[in-house]
Amino acid sequence: MAEKEKNVVNFSDPLSVLIVEDNEVDYKMLSSMLKDESYKISYSQVTETLADAVKALKEKSFDVAIVDLNLSDSKGELTLKEITEQFPLLPVVVNTGAYEDDLGLKTLGYGAQDFLVKSKYTAYTLIKALRYAIERKRLELELKDTMEQLSVTQRQLIEAERMRIIGGLASGVAHEVKNPLATILYGVTYLTDHVQVDDEKYQVVLDNIRAATHKANNIIVDLLDFASLSRLNKKATSLEDIIEKSLSLVGHEIDKHKVSVSKEITKDLQDIVVDKNRIEQVVVNLLLNAIYSITEGGNVHIRVHNGCLSSEMIKSMGLSEHYFKNGDRYLFMHIEDNGSGIKNENLDKLCDPFFTTRRAKGGIGLGLPVSKNIMELHEGSLCVQNKEDEGARATLIFRTSL
Ligand SMILES: Nc1ncnc2c1ncn2[C@@H]1O[C@H](COP(=O)(O)OP(=O)(O)OP(=O)(O)O)[C@@H](O)[C@H]1O
Ligand SMILES: [Mg+2]
Repeated sequence: MAEKEKNVVNFSDPLSVLIVEDNEVDYKMLSSMLKDESYKISYSQVTETLADAVKALKEKSFDVAIVDLNLSDSKGELTLKEITEQFPLLPVVVNTGAYEDDLGLKTLGYGAQDFLVKSKYTAYTLIKALRYAIERKRLELELKDTMEQLSVTQRQLIEAERMRIIGGLASGVAHEVKNPLATILYGVTYLTDHVQVDDEKYQVVLDNIRAATHKANNIIVDLLDFASLSRLNKKATSLEDIIEKSLSLVGHEIDKHKVSVSKEITKDLQDIVVDKNRIEQVVVNLLLNAIYSITEGGNVHIRVHNGCLSSEMIKSMGLSEHYFKNGDRYLFMHIEDNGSGIKNENLDKLCDPFFTTRRAKGGIGLGLPVSKNIMELHEGSLCVQNKEDEGARATLIFRTSL
């Protein structure tokens, strides 16, 4: 090796290299080339079969692998496929036969980062190929990560825009409808107080109009609420106090539906920094959903505990992997019921504005979307799932400072 050639290679990080090669002449040549001190190879290992290569890669992490595709236990692109699928972070340089330049080029499309053609490389071009492969893999992974982040951001922007449009429409319609409703309510009250009509049905009709007007007004209040969620007043608050206040707010419905409530709250409960009124609104919505799903005499169980998110939870709760990471600490609150549960075909629609299966009983379908929005504004989340046995479970997760 000419001195001049050696001096050009000037990388500081030492490399560990796995050589997957069953031809003795080839692996001896590769090993001897890698032995040169100036190339900073900290460790190299030879395996002659794919099975041994997989074993070695599981036991030790390598910076890069040089892989001959035709081994005794695997041939051609299948060798590369097996390695790239099992070790997606590993940079791979394929070592192809003497006249297989075309095949070498093709392997780049199958996941290799570079290729060598036997008998056509020198120690210098070998080291350059390894370094290039590592850098190319790093850039590939960085690009993949950026693309994922971009797609998450794009989805969030679309969702934010959708919510902005719905919010704008909702508040526009709500303001327009509020005044005529007030006029109707005033008219009904006036007729009740000032006009005596000798007809039984007269009073019934007025009562029906009043009830319908109140219902319409409640919808308007919900819609205006939906449109003005960005104003939060966050303070350190006890979740236990929020639960007690929410239970007292729905006390009448609990009694009416003869529902029993049980609680299991962790002893080391820390305060959470939230807008107390908004979180009460969320808990009330979830309690009402649980109560309404239950036929008389059921149970609502509230569980609060600290915990870490797992990859499985992130998936099953439909959380964005960009914001919610495996191992992040959260405060979990579950509201579990033994009610009707949710039909599978409805699970994906629960948080869509105006989706309800209780329209005939006065449901509007804003409880969950509003609640989810509130939780997301608190950097937490909400999901409703069926329980393993019967009924449903609504889970809230709150960021804690731990
Ligand atoms: N605990 C639960 N058990 C069974 N179904 C549920 C439960 N929670 C929510 N759902 C389903 O999700 C739908 C949407 O809930 P959401 O709270 O958004 O609206 P709603 O309760 O129908 O009306 P409202 O706007 O008055 O809250 C419900 O109609 C119901 O079908
Ligand atoms: Mg509801």
